[in-house]
Amino acid sequence: MNKAIKYVGIGVGGLVGLLLLTVGGVYAASSSRMSKTFDVPNEQLESLVGNPEAIAAGEHNVASFTKCVDCHGEDLAGKLVIPGGPIGTIGGPNLTSGGTVIGKYADVNDFENLVRHCVRPDGTTIRFMPCAEYNPLSDLEISQIHAYVLSKHAVTKENPPVTAGPLGRILYLAGKMPMMNSAEVIDHSKAHIATPPPTAATKEFGAHMALGCSGCHRPNYEGGPIPGGDPSWAPAANLSNGPDGIGSWTEADFTKALREGVRPDGTAIREPMPIAATKRMTDEEISAVWLFLRDQPAVSDGK
Ligand code: HEC
Ligand code: HEC
Repeated sequence: MNKAIKYVGIGVGGLVGLLLLTVGGVYAASSSRMSKTFDVPNEQLESLVGNPEAIAAGEHNVASFTKCVDCHGEDLAGKLVIPGGPIGTIGGPNLTSGGTVIGKYADVNDFENLVRHCVRPDGTTIRFMPCAEYNPLSDLEISQIHAYVLSKHAVTKENPPVTAGPLGRILYLAGKMPMMNSAEVIDHSKAHIATPPPTAATKEFGAHMALGCSGCHRPNYEGGPIPGGDPSWAPAANLSNGPDGIGSWTEADFTKALREGVRPDGTAIREPMPIAATKRMTDEEISAVWLFLRDQPAVSDGK
């Protein structure tokens, strides 16, 4: 064989080998972290299964504030959010009794561990659910959500299993995709409140409601590319009270944005801003979040 071709052949073979080793290394390192189990504190929540008031409160909660419906579908029978590709195949499974997961969550305390900590009853962790956002939920809200989810009639529908793709794994290992394994970033021993702040147009209640916004808009509301998001998504907007944020907006502008998905200049607010969820927030809830956001110091746009 011609010597030059032979060397090129060895070079290409070597590169392919190196690439395979690297990909293998990424899969091995990420899988090892993802398969780590967690032992979370055992809380004693009250079961509200079958309680009509709790079911109604849970229904409002999952459709507006915690927006479980965003990933599990309006009927909670599951929804594909990112349909495969380099990040992975991501979607919430069917949570009705027609699916295969909810049977494990008859006990509200197991449900609490999953929602607040992203930890299943067997100690394993789940991918791509924003449990860090849900960790500060009150015990009462978790019991209400549990009662609502368990009240759903069976819908038979199976969704593709969640899998992490090569880019998703690289971003996760680089610390850029915490949602891949929320259990790793949550302070599992943090104390929880028993009941939410009183429902009223107050900053205190607004701060609690805004927990559901901070996952995308970030804890200081600077906005920017959404951590763990699909690269094709629009970056989250800056919501701070300043020139880069919504400092010049009025409460009426804010209400219109959340209800109709339109900015004061008439442009449409794009996906994945969950207008389907925010349009169901009550006037009181919107006012409360508005009052809370007025207190967020001006910051420039997140990078
Ligand atoms: C950003 C998307 C997203 C949101 C919002 C979301 N989930 Fe999930 N959820 C997922 C994904 C993805 C899985 C599957 C994870 C896996 O199998 O690793 C999941 C799994 C579950 C499971 C089954 C766990 C198991 O044992 O396999 C339950 C129960 C659940 N979610 C409840 C909820 C509730 C309740 C809410 C709202 C408080 C919620 N989810 C909000 C994405 C989401
Ligand atoms: C799943 C991610 C996500 C969540 C959760 C979310 N947002 Fe957004 N939001 C976005 C994105 C992305 C944009 C920018 C869309 C665009 O540029 O068209 C946006 C834009 C906005 C805007 C328009 C601001 C402007 O200057 O353009 C407002 C107001 C807003 N969000 C408020 C909220 C509030 C309040 C909450 C919580 C109740 C919330 N968002 C939750 C992703 C999210």
